Amino acid sequence: MRFAVMASGRGSNFQALIDARTGGELLDVELVQLIVNKREAQAIARAEEAGIPWKFIDSEAMSRAEFDQRALTVLHECGTEAVVLAGFMRLLTPVFISTFRHHILNIHPALLPNFPGAHAHRDVLAAGVNESGCSAHLVDEGIDTGPIILQQSVDVLPDDTEESLAARILPHEHRLLPEAVRLLAAGRLKVDGSIVRILPKK
Ligand code: GRF
Repeated sequence: MRFAVMASGRGSNFQALIDARTGGELLDVELVQLIVNKREAQAIARAEEAGIPWKFIDSEAMSRAEFDQRALTVLHECGTEAVVLAGFMRLLTPVFISTFRHHILNIHPALLPNFPGAHAHRDVLAAGVNESGCSAHLVDEGIDTGPIILQQSVDVLPDDTEESLAARILPHEHRLLPEAVRLLAAGRLKVDGSIVRILPKK
């Protein structure tokens, strides 16, 4: 399956996909394109290093609809079959989402459906809960509301800061996201309403 990745920043989740591919864990997966919406995104250097074509589309310079239209054009040109949002800090329009219905994956650094949005770690600490984690999920029109595929929980410790909590969760993101990609590429995700069922290996 031909995957494109969309990212806004550091790109460590994108790197986890590249490494999983290089390590032979994603045999049915091609990473055909990176799209970034920030010129300074470190993900660009990772794409260059891995020989993956990348495209910068300036989200500040155009409407949401135009950004998504341009992104769709790039994705169609390279035969994209599925999209991974790897730290892509921007909402997609319903047009984009319906084009790749059930074929857009996101990694979120909290245990959905709790703590959606861009400030998950801050919100977790403010709520005083003792457990957080990460969720790989399919993207629908809501903010981090799509069907959950995989989750991993971690403890929240009394002295945690946003940074320490993020650092404890990130390695789990790097494991869950390639695993979700592998399951989608293998045709093992069955969407049943708002639930994803993971089908057994054929
Ligand atoms: C990750 O924590 C991801 O869950 C969140 O943004 C962060 C992106 O990190 N959506 P990176 O760019 O993949 O390093």
